[in-house]
Amino acid sequence: MVAPLRVGLAGLGTVGSAVVKMLAQSREQLAERAGRPLELVAYASKDPPRDKSVDLTGARKVADPVALAKDPDIDVFVELMGGEGDPAKASVEAALGGGRAVVTANKALIAKHGNALARIAEKSGASFAFEASVGGGIPIVKTLREGLGGAKISRVYGILNGTCNYILTQMLKENRSFADCLKEAQRLGYAEADPTFDIGGFDTAHKIAILTSLAFGTEIDTDAVHVEGIESITLADLQSADELGYKIKLLGVATRTEAGIEQRVHPTMVPKGSTIGGVDGVLNAVAIDSDMMGLTLVGPGAGGPATSSAVVADLVDIARGRISPPLGRAAAHLAKPKRAPMQRHEGGYYIRLAAVDRPGTMAAIAKAMAAENISLESIVQRHDNSRPHGGDDPRSAAGPAPVILITYATTEDAVRRALATIEREGVVAEAPQMIRIEKS
Ligand code: HSE
Repeated sequence: MVAPLRVGLAGLGTVGSAVVKMLAQSREQLAERAGRPLELVAYASKDPPRDKSVDLTGARKVADPVALAKDPDIDVFVELMGGEGDPAKASVEAALGGGRAVVTANKALIAKHGNALARIAEKSGASFAFEASVGGGIPIVKTLREGLGGAKISRVYGILNGTCNYILTQMLKENRSFADCLKEAQRLGYAEADPTFDIGGFDTAHKIAILTSLAFGTEIDTDAVHVEGIESITLADLQSADELGYKIKLLGVATRTEAGIEQRVHPTMVPKGSTIGGVDGVLNAVAIDSDMMGLTLVGPGAGGPATSSAVVADLVDIARGRISPPLGRAAAHLAKPKRAPMQRHEGGYYIRLAAVDRPGTMAAIAKAMAAENISLESIVQRHDNSRPHGGDDPRSAAGPAPVILITYATTEDAVRRALATIEREGVVAEAPQMIRIEKS
């Protein structure tokens, strides 16, 4: 009889509970895959699992997760508490420092402390696996680290937050409010404990920072990520995008440019017919461009079943003794990333202006754009049925009229300067909306 892999698990939230269930329900199949049984021997959790069907019979309860991480009777410590600070950080450090393998889904921890943790793991020879930290059930860490080991990657980008994708999809599809759709995502177990992490773009920033390191062989540099969330996206933007042949998605994008590595998170217009454009609901997608080929992986990005699948896959690797450097190469060989400033970002832009209804408005807008050498692909003046209307004479219409501009490729700097001029000229009634367009 081969010795089992003894698992100590900290955190019995959505993912932790799903892992416990999967270990029990797929016991035989997992033992075959792993070459030995995967056995939950101990756990630590502040609260009992909310899911009453989680059976912890036979597993020892340990009060302190750090003590569990140091427990000589476990082979692998599974950290599913979340959060970049303690007890997650202290327990992972304790396990790795003691040469004990760690599996985690904690993107915040890796985004913030991944470089240091990889060094600790390398020194002690412990496995440090975090497939579940990005893209839920999509095996993107392994794909970048091993599967594309021979390719030179130029861009990695994608939909990395299930909650945001769910909200943007449902708002447009069902004409529902932002708050209503967020509540639904929370109920379904997709959202972070603090959902501002999701909708503010920070969760996506953590994930793209991890993918950037794996794709480009650089140290994780989360502070360099330009972050904007989806709070400013209105139903009107989603509808305009739809009419113009686009979808709005919160994307994380990392590109190798001449100026360095650009890392950004923001609502983005992508063509409706593109692979990414067709990825709706809680699904995530990661697209990779390389010298050899491009590919896109699509799958469920959040929730217990998908995320536990990635956690358990890491346990199978550890049971088999398959060990890779956590970030794909020895920590000493990770390059210091050169940051490309966001002002130099180049691409097309969608701009929505609440243009005041008087002669000269369009001329002022056109002049501001021309002064920055911005060429326009399309201009649409939308009729807003919700505003008061003064009959057939357009001069008597009250209130601003939405004007949508789509630009050809330009720079972030130029667009920001043009919009500042437009606001200064007093031809718009509210701050302009600006959404970047991503080539796919
Ligand atoms: N809150 C995250 C999401 C969970 O919505 O994608 C998975 O990281």
